[in-house]
Amino acid sequence: MKRRHPLGDVECNPETLALGLGYDPKLSEGSVKPPVFLTSTFQFESADAGRRFFELAYGLRQADPGEVPGLIYSRLNNPNLQIFEERLSAWDRTEAGATFASGMAAISTTLLALLRPGDVVLATSPVYGGTHYLLEHILPRFGITTRWVPAGSDAAQAMRAVAEEVGPDTVRALYIETPANPSNVMTDIAAIAGLARDLSVGRERPALTLVDNTFLGPVFQRPATLGADLIIYSATKFIGGHSDLIAGVVTGSRILLHHVLESRTIMGTMCNPFVGWLLLRSLETLSVRMRRQAKSARALATLLADHPAIERVAYPGMDHDDLAQQAIYDRQCSGAGSLVSFEVKGGQPAAYRVLDRFQIIRLAVSLGGTESLVEHPMTMTHSDIPPDQLERYGVRPGLIRLSVGLEHLSDLKRDLRYALAEA
Ligand SMILES: Cc1ncc(COP(=O)(O)O)c(C=O)c1O
Repeated sequence: MKRRHPLGDVECNPETLALGLGYDPKLSEGSVKPPVFLTSTFQFESADAGRRFFELAYGLRQADPGEVPGLIYSRLNNPNLQIFEERLSAWDRTEAGATFASGMAAISTTLLALLRPGDVVLATSPVYGGTHYLLEHILPRFGITTRWVPAGSDAAQAMRAVAEEVGPDTVRALYIETPANPSNVMTDIAAIAGLARDLSVGRERPALTLVDNTFLGPVFQRPATLGADLIIYSATKFIGGHSDLIAGVVTGSRILLHHVLESRTIMGTMCNPFVGWLLLRSLETLSVRMRRQAKSARALATLLADHPAIERVAYPGMDHDDLAQQAIYDRQCSGAGSLVSFEVKGGQPAAYRVLDRFQIIRLAVSLGGTESLVEHPMTMTHSDIPPDQLERYGVRPGLIRLSVGLEHLSDLKRDLRYALAEA
């Protein structure tokens, strides 16, 4: 779905829309860039206008033909967030979006908006440690339980079996992260969405497919085109892209986003206007950054695969022996991204020796920024998850997660070789 650029009567690609969609310079003194709308509240032209804005915002009436919802208060709506949401949802091929204070705010607000006591979530494992904690420890307090299946080629089949066991009608959400953090294992989005459709037949509240698209989207993977209902991001990562903000986003259909936005308004989990403005700045270079980072990542993954200190490398599309994973990659990804997971021979002591020797690549959690980062998932980002569970899903003591940035490739190669020299 290409959309029309507001400055000319032409259909454009997402990279172009990221520089123009949703913003009219005439409303801001001709400023080419959207200003930061750093205001908590908006002045109404009249009491009647204020009343009408609230009626729309609170769903008390339908919009008249051509009526645009008015600006009220920055917990409900703000131009920086709205412009960003329009541009990202166009990229994702979805109808609407909602920006949040963090990826976790996006995930928790969305799940609380859609789930009720008694509902079951089927989720792939591993997922980001915070998401795992939310599903495993916090949502059960509200009567919402999660059943886990291994991420990967057989996830849809495994979920179908669990759905039969728990009762298909109780399953409200199929939650996947693909590629999974930190194992890089891919799950078939279309197969999961197909299962959700099967489970939804004849139901008033259908089963929904939710995809955490943080690692590849929207440049290399568009889950909505494969049948997913909601696309979730930690915008802290590639979308923000400079390791200078924390934010999250959800995109999907207007009707689902209506529920998500209702919860965001009442829980107050939106992001602030300045962060919204930073996200707009970052979206302009997203495609260029992700493509360049992915090119370097492939070169480093190849270097790692040939290195004697390395047990195993996981990089999407590079495991030619695993035909099922390769097929998923070919079907749903247009690029492999810039997260490389690799296992050092010698377990945790060897992995720590490597981590402590990097000189250019920084030892820090997070990913998707302009600088390269390494971390140890088992004892850092995923340390909330019991080690035996992590090992079952391929997250072993020797595993290091590398996020490749924009440094010169020759410097990164030298640093990686140096760090591995005494593994
Ligand atoms: C895949 C994934 N989803 C969600 C999150 C949570 O995002 P945030 O840290 O912005 O709350 C992270 C954070 O690392 C992540 O890697």
